[in-house]
Amino acid sequence: MALTLSSSLIVLLGFFICNFTLISSQKNEYDDPTTKTMEEFSGYPVHEPHFQDSFSSLSVDADNLQKQIDELSSFSDTPAPSVTRVLYSEKDVLARRYIKNLMAISGLSVREDDVGNIFGRWDGYEPELPPVSTGSHIDAIPYSGKYDGVVGVLGAIEAINVLKRSGFKPKRSLEVIMFTSEEPTRFGISCLGSRLLAGSEELAELLKRTADGQNTSFSDAARFAGYKNAEDLSSVFLRKGSYSAFIELHIEQGPILEEEATSIGVVTAIAAPASIKMDFEGNGGHAGAVLMPMRNDAGLAAAELALAVEKHVLESGSIDTVGTVGILELHPGAINSIPSKSHLEIDTRDINETRRNIVIEKIHNSALAISKNRKVKLSEFKIVNQDPPALSDDSIIKAAESACQELNLSYKKMISRAYHDSLFMARISPMGMIFIPCYKGYSHKPEEFAATHDIANGVRVLALTLAKLSLT
Ligand code: GLV
Ligand code: MN
Ligand code: MN
Repeated sequence: MALTLSSSLIVLLGFFICNFTLISSQKNEYDDPTTKTMEEFSGYPVHEPHFQDSFSSLSVDADNLQKQIDELSSFSDTPAPSVTRVLYSEKDVLARRYIKNLMAISGLSVREDDVGNIFGRWDGYEPELPPVSTGSHIDAIPYSGKYDGVVGVLGAIEAINVLKRSGFKPKRSLEVIMFTSEEPTRFGISCLGSRLLAGSEELAELLKRTADGQNTSFSDAARFAGYKNAEDLSSVFLRKGSYSAFIELHIEQGPILEEEATSIGVVTAIAAPASIKMDFEGNGGHAGAVLMPMRNDAGLAAAELALAVEKHVLESGSIDTVGTVGILELHPGAINSIPSKSHLEIDTRDINETRRNIVIEKIHNSALAISKNRKVKLSEFKIVNQDPPALSDDSIIKAAESACQELNLSYKKMISRAYHDSLFMARISPMGMIFIPCYKGYSHKPEEFAATHDIANGVRVLALTLAKLSLT
């Protein structure tokens, strides 16, 4: 039996390698003015494709995929080349419709769950087996770029198209997932969709009493987007073993692949992220009339804490420890008023969870000390999430590595410093990730850029890896 399976896999993969032609060339010029602006804006050097690109095989329709990436980027609340697409906003709803439509065109059966995770399934010839899944997110933080997450959703649909065009028949069903809100922009919590899929009861409870910055409740926001049953999200939970494998395609968001001219990153682990929300409160007052010794300035407490975050991160002694104060708001926000309240949101990460937790503890101690010294109240110190790292599964690493070898693409194993929905899918399924190079590692800013031929390489590796995993 094992022999039959592995020999059929070899025959099948041989068929892939020999019979496919690249539908589109790896051009870097498009007619779309948005893309031109992006290239000019980012200064991305137009370069010739690597040798291995033209060599390859699987029939990725790279031009069409690039067109879809450009089209999707137009659903944005900020002008090109930036992209802003916030959960359950009008633009998010339009983008979701766009994705569902593409899934349907690819012949996938589409379903949505109560939080708006979108699933497109291609039934295998043994549909009772747990499927192999792939996917990512399409929400975009304010003023970011058009590739983060998007490459892993549109690229996954194109990977399915590649396999269909090839005549491949999956044994296990293949499923593309578009996860709801990987970014924490609107409700301050990352990876909403995948955390819920992984069964986070804590999050389902929390969302019952969560509102955004405009005081719109989570369930009202979800209703606006057409998700009427978001009051109780336990329906979203999947049991462990629902998928035999999950693999996500993503831009690297770091500079290594580009610097080393390596086509593919095979991810071995995802770093451990944590985030904190906290408030200082003082008495405020008139910026002219209140003398310096009489003040308890919540803004200065926040400034001191921001520097303490940097200090504690550097004290770890490891380049892998990072910390960012990404939000710092002062109330009432008038030039001639001493801040009476400050709000900070702090992101800290490490590949070593213990080291990351030590940083969190030090930040807490500093917040307490600052509040004492400056006579301000530490009215809130909330650890929003404190997630452990996740390891990729060996079987998926191996499948991705052999896909790279068979496609003659250079690759290296690497860790992901950014978090992804994969971090949570790893709780219910063996997980892996495929990275592609992006310009200077830029991400979460408008200059984010990935070249079409690099995206096409990622899709090819994804398609072949899915094919392999579907036959196991
Ligand atoms: C994901 O967007 C992250 O912040 O790592
Ligand atoms: Mn992101
Ligand atoms: Mn992402």
